[in-house]
Amino acid sequence: MSAKLAINGAKPTVPGGLQKRWPPITQDDIDAVVAVLKRGILWGPMEEEVIGLQDDFAKYIGAKHALVVNSGTAALHAAVVAAGVGPGDEVITPAYSFWATAQAIIAHNGIPVFTDIDVDSMNMDPAKIEEKITEKTKALMPVHVHGLCADMDTINALAKKHDLKVIEDAAQAVGGKYKGRNAGVLGDVAGFSLNGSKNLPAGEGGIVTTNDDEMIDRARQMAMFGEKVVPKGEIRLYDAQIMGFNYRNNEMADAFCRSVLKRYDHLQDLRRKNCDYLNTELAKIKGVRPPEEPEGDVHTWHLYKVRLYPEQLGITDIHVKRFRWAVHKALIEEGVDMFEWHNMPVPAQSIFMQKNAYGKGEPWTGAHASQQARDMIYDPFDYPVTVDMFDRSFCINPVYPPNDLKLMEYIVEAFHKVFDNLDEILEFSKTITFPTMPGENRKI
Ligand SMILES: Cc1ncc(COP(=O)(O)O)c(C=O)c1O
Repeated sequence: MSAKLAINGAKPTVPGGLQKRWPPITQDDIDAVVAVLKRGILWGPMEEEVIGLQDDFAKYIGAKHALVVNSGTAALHAAVVAAGVGPGDEVITPAYSFWATAQAIIAHNGIPVFTDIDVDSMNMDPAKIEEKITEKTKALMPVHVHGLCADMDTINALAKKHDLKVIEDAAQAVGGKYKGRNAGVLGDVAGFSLNGSKNLPAGEGGIVTTNDDEMIDRARQMAMFGEKVVPKGEIRLYDAQIMGFNYRNNEMADAFCRSVLKRYDHLQDLRRKNCDYLNTELAKIKGVRPPEEPEGDVHTWHLYKVRLYPEQLGITDIHVKRFRWAVHKALIEEGVDMFEWHNMPVPAQSIFMQKNAYGKGEPWTGAHASQQARDMIYDPFDYPVTVDMFDRSFCINPVYPPNDLKLMEYIVEAFHKVFDNLDEILEFSKTITFPTMPGENRKI
């Protein structure tokens, strides 16, 4: 019998050349950047584009303040400092994120304490937070992962009960909503990313948002070498008061981002159309679980993560991770652009396993670190829901516009082809190699 799948030499399902790049760039975007170059003012904390982007973005999400910085990581670092986190303070954050979330805590000598995720939303599981709170806990730092907001009512209630600040990692969540309220104003302070891969791209960039006057002042100081920022026209004091950095962005990136923001809702509508189609069609395939959007929330669909359940197909004699990788590789051969978006819990990364960020074991050995921080062991298998999610999941990349339903239809066709030919997948699964996590000693 002839092979049906591209892994065995059949023709790939998705035609080459159909997939477009992100972001789509219009003449208006180009004109906006050229206008900056013609004006000749390329940077400055009070210049036209940075102030314009701050105002436009604050208005877009309904925040009192927005501060533009040069990355999402910088935004989160400034937000952590704005929330008052300092040496030895503990911040509770999910084991599933980009490591920049935890990095922002360590960057001010804080100690990240991780929780496992909720199986449905893949966000921080609020039921697992309270057991991690100690007298050193200063803040909770949920991540709106993939663009779906964390369970903020429960998180805020816990914060209120224990007198903690809430810092939103909203890097992936521009336009996301929780029970009708916008990401970025759901806690005390938030950090967004404007990296070129993000739904609202500037190339590189980030934004801090808050409704708190003192917090925004501290964030501004962080972005300006630790100096107090004086109003435009006043003489700069050159007097650093706290540890700060040059976190300013440049006018070209800000002008580009402002231009994209003008049509952001339209771009999101197109992205949503693709994801709605995939949600409906992939749910029809036994063993495939598309991501979910709870009623009343708005997902930004920054990342589209699918999970596989071979158990539902009666496949129990190979490890789920081996099955997933076989399907993953087979779909890539069919022409579907896919990636993992991380492959282990953040606490499995070497910096945590070795508990050494700056050398000499800092910040876990610093004068302000508690005995608990000194004794803390980051064990990736303390986060079984996160590990299981990694085992069985991958992201479909091109859900962004200008890709449209034509490409989505081919992607669904590729899934059908693979799941209709599981005999080929099972044979293929015996031959493949794939990365495993440090310390992974299970038989895979
Ligand atoms: C959840 C999360 N947090 C933080 C960041 C950091 O943002 P940036 O890459 O702009 O520094 C990212 C970016 O990928 C992210 O996805």
